[in-house]
Amino acid sequence: MQTIDPDKLNAFMGKMLNDVGAAMNASLLLIGDRLGLFKALAEGGPMTSSELAGKTGTAERYVREWLSAQAASGYIVYDTASGKFSMEPEQAAVFADDDSPVFLGAVGDLVAATMRDEPLISDAFKSGKGVGWDKRNKCLFCGTARFFRTSYRHYLVQEWLPALEGVVKKLERGAAVADVGCGHGVSTMIMAQAFPNSRFHGFDYHQGSIDDARQAARDAGMADRVSFDVSTAKTVPAGGYDLVCFFDCLHDMGDPVGALRHIRSTMAPDGTCMLVEPFANDRLEDNLNPVGRVYYAASTVICTPASLDQEVGLALGAQAGEARLRKVAEEAGFTRFRRAAETPFNLILEVRL
Ligand SMILES: C[S@@+](CC[C@H](N)C(=O)[O-])C[C@H]1O[C@@H](n2cnc3c(N)ncnc32)[C@H](O)[C@@H]1O
Repeated sequence: MQTIDPDKLNAFMGKMLNDVGAAMNASLLLIGDRLGLFKALAEGGPMTSSELAGKTGTAERYVREWLSAQAASGYIVYDTASGKFSMEPEQAAVFADDDSPVFLGAVGDLVAATMRDEPLISDAFKSGKGVGWDKRNKCLFCGTARFFRTSYRHYLVQEWLPALEGVVKKLERGAAVADVGCGHGVSTMIMAQAFPNSRFHGFDYHQGSIDDARQAARDAGMADRVSFDVSTAKTVPAGGYDLVCFFDCLHDMGDPVGALRHIRSTMAPDGTCMLVEPFANDRLEDNLNPVGRVYYAASTVICTPASLDQEVGLALGAQAGEARLRKVAEEAGFTRFRRAAETPFNLILEVRL
């Protein structure tokens, strides 16, 4: 029998206690987001539980317990003297402001989606089969759109597109752009807003996401120059595209090589393909960190099953890394490949003919 080192055990139990607390609090994040508790507290605090309940039309006893859990999590502040709760600006930026560059309010939706689909994923572990995007519960679609919106809003037009050779000039003059695997079309609309002379076409194989994207384009009054259609990456119609984007979706595809090979044929000869992929190093041992932890977990329950559900089922995973992605692009016939930009969460790869 191996001996247990009590110091190591204590340290590990401390880590686990923290993780268990975060896991138990995950559904409370969703509740706080859905019911507007974080926003009302950030705007109106310091507040008692009665005041927050009154402001949000919720029941005081539940709100008091929720507030206590958030204070114990370090997500809000409790002032013993006044018995009131409040949020510091940094806490508000993370939980209460959809437009801040560090907003994480959509995490509750994503966690809920993975928990609700757990029976499907456990079955898939046994069968080895995939679970397609269309089989997932709705939380996943809106959670994904809202989660990624934060990066797209703050980096896409400001840093990622300018990092691509000659692309911004083309977009300013008037270019044709395809956004493949566009989901709810958040990235498509952000680009369309910034470049009114260009035309944008979003494609996704999931009908529900395309319906939502179309509605968003109508609501924004941009339906005349932004279109959304149901299409797999391998059936996107030729469009002489100056720019084709894959936002966090190439690794979800069953046949990323086939997808990129087909996309090549839809592009203008001097066109650019931008791959936005989760940040990853090339070796597992270099991804054993907090970012890798989030992505490997998401990849296990979202990205890998999505890819295994499709033809080829390459299952790159969300931590494929630049070297593996380069190989995919080269196999698809692209000759130029470079890391154009990066954030702690994203790799921005420029791929050209
Ligand atoms: C993680 S979501 C990203 C959505 C969106 N690009 C974003 O960044 O918010 C992956 C998307 O890829 C789409 N997808 C997966 N496989 C596809 C395929 N073979 N062809 C087209 N879309 C696909 C899914 O329907 C889903 O909308």
